[in-house]
Amino acid sequence: MILPIYLYGESVLRKKAEEIPQNTPEIKAMIDDMFATMYQASGVGLAGPQVGKSLRIFVVDTAPFVKDNDDDEFTEEEKNELMSFKRVFINPVILEEKGESWKFNEGCLSIPKIREDVLRPSEVKIQYLDEDFLPHTEVFKGIIARVIQHEYDHLEGILFTDRISPFKRKLLQGKLNDISKGLITPDYKFKIPKK
Ligand code: NI
Repeated sequence: MILPIYLYGESVLRKKAEEIPQNTPEIKAMIDDMFATMYQASGVGLAGPQVGKSLRIFVVDTAPFVKDNDDDEFTEEEKNELMSFKRVFINPVILEEKGESWKFNEGCLSIPKIREDVLRPSEVKIQYLDEDFLPHTEVFKGIIARVIQHEYDHLEGILFTDRISPFKRKLLQGKLNDISKGLITPDYKFKIPKK
């Protein structure tokens, strides 16, 4: 089932999300719905709060980075890695972020039609449960780390526009206000923001 995506201005996007206490059929169904919702919106990551659930879960599938990219931005090895990276992160905890900070042009399904360069460390060490509630601790780098960092922020009530310079944010404020008023809308299913 495709769920409506909550847009900038919705309070759930600003709340710290709650841990998921146990595996239930509802969580299984929610994971399926989150993937379906992410794919129809052509996203590479989607977090619980973005579908109105203040729960510590996000899904990632980085294949569209390769599919939607004709130019040779990636090496064969990177392409293979991105094409096959599909993962569910439940109750994740970032244990460490390190490496040189680098700029990547980020977008967000909750902030349609806005993209900005965001600086983040290149590596992330994260502990999480997968869709079967099995625990993992892994280190991710590059674009995969980037998607994880962006999605993890959603669980803390942080949006990528919080991580750009105050000057750039000021320039964007009009557009952000327009999203929250329902004046800028995406071409996928979304929740009409409260006026
Ligand atoms: Ni996002």
